[in-house]
Amino acid sequence: MATIDKLMDKLVSLCKRRGFIFQSSEIYGGLNSCYDYGPLGVELKRNVKEFWWKAMVQSRDDIEGLDASILMHPRVWEASGHVANFTDPMVDCKVCKSRFRVDELNEKKQGQCPRCGNKDSLTEARQFNLMFKTFMGPVEEAANVVYMRPETAQGIYVNVYNVMHASRQKIPFGIAQIGKAFRNEITPGNFTFRTREFEQMEMQFFVKPGTDMEWFEYWKAQRIAWYDGLGIRKSKLRFHQHGPTELAHYATAAFDIEYEFPFGWKELEGVHNRTDFDLKRHMEYSGKDLNYFDDATREKYIPYIIETSAGCDRTVLTALIDAYDEDVIEGEPRTVLRLAPAIAPIKAGVFPLVKKDGMPEVATKIHHELKKHFNVFYDDGGAIGRRYRRMDEAGTPFGITVDGQTLQDQTVTVRERDSLVQTRVSIDKLVPFIQEKMAEYKRVE
Ligand code: GAP
Repeated sequence: MATIDKLMDKLVSLCKRRGFIFQSSEIYGGLNSCYDYGPLGVELKRNVKEFWWKAMVQSRDDIEGLDASILMHPRVWEASGHVANFTDPMVDCKVCKSRFRVDELNEKKQGQCPRCGNKDSLTEARQFNLMFKTFMGPVEEAANVVYMRPETAQGIYVNVYNVMHASRQKIPFGIAQIGKAFRNEITPGNFTFRTREFEQMEMQFFVKPGTDMEWFEYWKAQRIAWYDGLGIRKSKLRFHQHGPTELAHYATAAFDIEYEFPFGWKELEGVHNRTDFDLKRHMEYSGKDLNYFDDATREKYIPYIIETSAGCDRTVLTALIDAYDEDVIEGEPRTVLRLAPAIAPIKAGVFPLVKKDGMPEVATKIHHELKKHFNVFYDDGGAIGRRYRRMDEAGTPFGITVDGQTLQDQTVTVRERDSLVQTRVSIDKLVPFIQEKMAEYKRVE
């Protein structure tokens, strides 16, 4: 794959044109850093979540799923440390009213507003909490404040023993959850990379103290391997270890899985050793005993937690960026999304070569049959080359064409998006053929 000029601009435009991602409330001028997923985007995002859920929950015996509510008891966020610590130091410009993170300011131009340029117009730094607040019930007063969760993790911690007892798990075991989180980010940006409303895919693994670093290493290896299965090029991924100044208030060890975005190496997912910080704090704030009792060894302890915390929207963006490619076929430039078949929104396009001689009827029948197994798309509009290109741009891995020969011998051509290889396949073998090709897919670096 070549390095592509202005990749982000091209991707944003493709996302809108093809219905992956739209600006939220666009007809009103848009709402900054909020996005809507269109018909192709919603399929892609669902597939990413499905891929994660399969790997983290359904294929394992030691992880259970959960879907906790977004609004939680406000004491949760005191216990978690978010009320006190989930802050960024900020300054305001008294003239133009802009707000900046302190680490964004130019040290050499102290007191000068980076936007309006006024000197000595900046206030002293103040801590700005990133949690969104709202009110529960009709009365807007302090006693009714609730927060929109800034991470899904806390819903898991407060349910640890509900889940453990209901599912008859024993330590070590994990709880996984996919859901929305909200952060009033000061500097959102880079399309869906940093937004104020986003979805997380988090798993919290509860272990015996002393075994935590072993499990930490295990989960680091599992998680980076997951991106390989997702079709992300290995050369674009790396680990970044948090130094003492980067560690979040709850972690003793943390590694980010980073991807090389067009705007630099950035975090995709965090793997954290949260020790017994969270359960200890919830025990203190709730007054409930959150010790684990091991029947076999008669030991009692507060479990340590190894967390894997991925951003769903960020993974979707990464998959799109990593998949975007341009090449030339038969002298014509082509834009293609080399998405792994497992996450591609549409698995196959079905095309009658021409709109006559009974070809549309056969193609329609194939379309209906394949729909029982995959998300497929029927297209009989325009030259066949144009129809292939439309599917290439949507990331569809297979194109199935019904032609004159089909009417003679009940075979169709299957064109592969990446290799452009065309194979004649008997109509009744199409499903296993596509399933096999999907299973053996490997991303070319
Ligand atoms: N429970 C731990 C936790 O939330 P985090 O590193 O703050 O850790 C985890 O967030 C992941 O959530 C990040 O790696 C990123 O993928 C995603 N994420 C965090 N803030 C985000 C934002 N403002 N927009 C999009 N994704 C975000």
